[in-house]
Amino acid sequence: MAFPQQFLDELMARSDIVDVVGSFVPLISKGGSYWGCCPFHSEKTPSFHVLPDKQIYYCFGCKKGGGVVNFIMEEENLTYPDAIRFLGKRAGMEVPEEEGDREASRRRQRLLDLNRDAARFYYQLLQQPEGRAVQAYLDKRQIKKSTAVKFGMGASLDSWDTLLNAMTKKGYTKSELLAAGLIVQNKNGGFYDKFRNRLMLPVIDTRGDVVAFGSRVLDKSEPKYMNSSETQVYSKRRVLYGLNLAKKTKRPNIILCEGNLDIVTLHQAGFDNAVASMGTALTVEQTRLLSRFTKELVLCYDNDNAGRIATERALQILYNSEFSVKVLQLPRRLVDGEYVKQDADDFIKFQGPDAFERLLTGSENGIEFRMAQVAGKYDLNSDEARVAYCEEISNLLSSLPNAVEREIYSARAAELAKITPEAMKLEVQRAFKRRMAREKRAELRKDLNPAAQLQPKERSLRYENLRSARAEEGVLRLLMMDDSLFPDEEPPLKEEDFSSPLLGRAFTLLWAAHREGRPMSPGLLSDALDAEEASHIAAICQQPESSQNAQRALADYIHIVKTEADKRAGKGMDPLLAATEKYKDKKGTGGKQYG
Ligand code: UTP
Ligand code: MN
Repeated sequence: MAFPQQFLDELMARSDIVDVVGSFVPLISKGGSYWGCCPFHSEKTPSFHVLPDKQIYYCFGCKKGGGVVNFIMEEENLTYPDAIRFLGKRAGMEVPEEEGDREASRRRQRLLDLNRDAARFYYQLLQQPEGRAVQAYLDKRQIKKSTAVKFGMGASLDSWDTLLNAMTKKGYTKSELLAAGLIVQNKNGGFYDKFRNRLMLPVIDTRGDVVAFGSRVLDKSEPKYMNSSETQVYSKRRVLYGLNLAKKTKRPNIILCEGNLDIVTLHQAGFDNAVASMGTALTVEQTRLLSRFTKELVLCYDNDNAGRIATERALQILYNSEFSVKVLQLPRRLVDGEYVKQDADDFIKFQGPDAFERLLTGSENGIEFRMAQVAGKYDLNSDEARVAYCEEISNLLSSLPNAVEREIYSARAAELAKITPEAMKLEVQRAFKRRMAREKRAELRKDLNPAAQLQPKERSLRYENLRSARAEEGVLRLLMMDDSLFPDEEPPLKEEDFSSPLLGRAFTLLWAAHREGRPMSPGLLSDALDAEEASHIAAICQQPESSQNAQRALADYIHIVKTEADKRAGKGMDPLLAATEKYKDKKGTGGKQYG
């Protein structure tokens, strides 16, 4: 996986971070650096910062950051070597390959081929007499042949090794079948098909590759749905069932449902803009994927408690995003005098596509959904409940950033609570002021407590010695800013002197580059650090460091790091004091922070 250093240096020189990032994110230049809306989380106001002099990016919102390679890894969901290849292609450079890399990308392609062959095999079984049971199930659920074909549905048989045998015959090995999650190993070392006697639903990504399978039993047995486990080609956070079809829709929005078969029914009924997150909560990665195809989402989760929680969670993820979000609430259905839950599939079956179209047109926006949730909690005929309702609803409405929206929905809430709009408006204004004051206090607290800000977000990276770590950060910043401040052959600090293992490691890597006279940049570290580590280093680098007095600052930093290191080693101290220091360390109080 090691690319020649000379190639990497040249590639970095030709991959300016502003050019590369700018081709994905519109950037605005402001005082020597650039700002844009972060592509890694949903936002409307720019908190994504690109610093050309340091060749790094850093998002103040989601705290992701790094060099140009980290950016491509994150944005394109690529491994380090693939990100290098991506940049190489972009810069028009020939990328030197090693045997091992070719091997990895060949294995990946093999898994995709295997998935496709398995999907074809299941598909053919469904057309044959052996597929009768699944065919009957499709009939029972009123899924038409043409719909089944469109989704590439198939059948797995009531047998332990049908797929295993068929794929082995095609030349795939057991280890490939295992890696694709299509077979399972039992305790005795034998292998058997993972999917048996099920309706098979291939999961196809937006590129058209079969990356996984969903499946459903034909009767009432458990588990009802079984999906592929995560593999080298499948990360469930990054895929939505049906998006391969929905991305071509002419409708203005995309509908998000819970279940695979909801999607099938919706597409069959003419709603070819439906996708499902397959039983998991909506992820940020999925919203990024969606943002390539639409700016309007309609949440259509089940109308039970789990569905409401899922809706609330999705609203939180989408809060302040560039999407406009609506909530389509399916009504409950009356069966034998009792209301039962209904999903999109049930609704279409019982009420028909036209009724669904009406719900879609009239669907509420997120705030309306939340208001209805709050109203549902109170019996508004009692005065006491009305007071409590007003308090909770004014708090909710105060979270709306837009004054016009606050006013409109306040009037609506007032009507429901049977109070005057003026009284409600006043309440909301008060709540809004309280909220502002609260936010301001929180900001202030953060400013007054830089230590809390300084701590890495990731727990495993927490600093044990803040005083030293702060100085260590300064050394790294100066080394990257101007390595001529470090004229010597020998490093001023050893890796063990660093109290933070991450910072020590970064220093060693950067020092090696410095000694060889290579350009300093955080990009040098992309291969050696994981995403959290790279983000933390970027966070450190984007902090300002004065270039006047840099020599002096460096000497101070080095002094602090050395003194703290000596303390740790128990040197240069009264032996008695050193002993108590050590004792404190053991008890976890000597500057050690657990959190
Ligand atoms: P549901 O169980 O709500 O689906 O699961 P449903 O629509 O009522 O199922 P049908 O109509 O009886 O077929 C919703 C989704 O959650 C995932 C599946 O992707 C399913 O489509 N799920 C559910 C699982 O992954 N595993 C399970 O055991 C159940
Ligand atoms: Mn259902």
